[in-house]
Amino acid sequence: MRTQKTCFAGFPTPLQRMPRLSQALAGPRLFVKRDDMTDLAFGGNKSRKLEFLFADAKNKGADVVISTGAVQSNCACMVASAARRLGMKPVLVLVGKEPAVYDGNLLLDKLLSAEIHFIDGYGPHVEDLMNRLAEECRAKGHNPYIIPVGASTPSTVPGYALAMEELVNQFHGIREKIDYVVCACGTGGTQAGLIFGNKLLDVKAKILGASVFASKIDASRTVTQLVNSSAKLLDVDLSIVPEKVSVFDDYIKEGYGILNSEVTDALKIVAETEGILLDPIYTGKAMAMLIDLIHKDYFKKGDNVVFFHTGGLPALFLYRNKLSRA
Ligand SMILES: Cc1ncc(COP(=O)(O)O)c(C=O)c1O
Repeated sequence: MRTQKTCFAGFPTPLQRMPRLSQALAGPRLFVKRDDMTDLAFGGNKSRKLEFLFADAKNKGADVVISTGAVQSNCACMVASAARRLGMKPVLVLVGKEPAVYDGNLLLDKLLSAEIHFIDGYGPHVEDLMNRLAEECRAKGHNPYIIPVGASTPSTVPGYALAMEELVNQFHGIREKIDYVVCACGTGGTQAGLIFGNKLLDVKAKILGASVFASKIDASRTVTQLVNSSAKLLDVDLSIVPEKVSVFDDYIKEGYGILNSEVTDALKIVAETEGILLDPIYTGKAMAMLIDLIHKDYFKKGDNVVFFHTGGLPALFLYRNKLSRA
């Protein structure tokens, strides 16, 4: 696989066992891959993807990086952190209203001195604004580079293929085999990369995604498209079909980012049994799915199930009202 990436230190991320959680749930053997401990801001899955985009930005001589996401976007914040790490200026187009008080990722964006533009609603006008800001940069003699929402592009899929390789090596080290991998699925790049790596390395693990906003049909199409276009880009003989992508939309429940009692319970049981903190939007929903699947006897007792902790922790504090009553 021919790829070029810059290095945001922190790999390999730890692989930890969760024996007390397995016991509390009377479930399979549970492991957690601590991608919340990657370097960049408070850590998370975007580091692995951004390594590729920032290598490209550096190669192209960029000195300004423009990206977008929701006001509380984990990705936008990590873009800002990566940009600062490499001596570039971050410019963020954040979808939503400017709050009276900056909190969570937005507070971190501010600390990273990102130039922030708030914009109403998603749509082509977001890209238009990014392009206009890029034009303005060029007019001032700068060289801007645009990173799309979620940093999920065919060129960043190898980030999680390499994470899969990292995981396989860690499992070789403990002489165990991986039966299942569980992750949150948003823009699809994480699950796509894990599937890519799983196929390329012929691991035969089952990769289960918990969609946080898209329907099962849309999410599996997005993941398929990312895997297949990445394989084409890298000239790798590999392809998948949407029907074979295991992504569940049953756990979106009330909607994206809406904290329900299953997610609160998931956050609490993982914190109480393993001392590990999850976020309410992504990893909390993925853990709620894992717990539900355990309750439904989806796994066998001796299966090894790896939960990818993909970060998102700055958002935890935005839910202080609901969580402090939990
Ligand atoms: C903390 C966290 N976990 C998981 C995801 C989902 O990853 P992906 O967008 O690659 O599907 C995201 C995406 O924003 C995220 O911020």
